[in-house]
Amino acid sequence: MSVMTITGAEWNRQGITREVILIGRYAIKVPRIVYGWRMFLCGLLANMQEREFARAGWPELCPVTFSIPGGWLVVMRRARPLTPAEWSDFRPYDFCNLDDRVIPAEAKYDSFGVLDGSIVAVDYGN
Ligand SMILES: Nc1ncnc2c1ncn2[C@@H]1O[C@H](COP(=O)(O)OP(=O)(O)OP(=O)(O)O)[C@@H](O)[C@H]1O
Ligand SMILES: [Mg+2]
Repeated sequence: MSVMTITGAEWNRQGITREVILIGRYAIKVPRIVYGWRMFLCGLLANMQEREFARAGWPELCPVTFSIPGGWLVVMRRARPLTPAEWSDFRPYDFCNLDDRVIPAEAKYDSFGVLDGSIVAVDYGN
């Protein structure tokens, strides 16, 4: 039996620049090497950006609980995916373009999740 099965962890390989391991209440992000050096570097930069933005504490951002300088690792709270109904009611453009700030998330389904009953951006490393 693998470690993943024993711990109930899920390995999410949907992202191009980062591998995401979902385990318990956390999402662990590391840069992805399979698409080459350039994408790996983008993964480092994405993790660095999330680490920095999370410090602002904006409620629209999924919080970062732990991170390593240089983009090697980011640990976020784990959000659940939106339901189809939640996604169809959701207006990503309005969510991201606020009067006083812009949330750097792509307007696509898997950039968002639900945490403690509210929608948050889970990929804001663009
Ligand atoms: N905090 C989180 N909670 C739950 N799932 C998450 C979280 N962060 C990321 N994921 C899942 O992992 C996937 C990949 O993460 P993320 O989008 O951050 O990587 P990426 O490499 O930047 O992706 P992309 O290539 O789409 O830009 C997300 O689409 C989402 O399904
Ligand atoms: Mg991304």
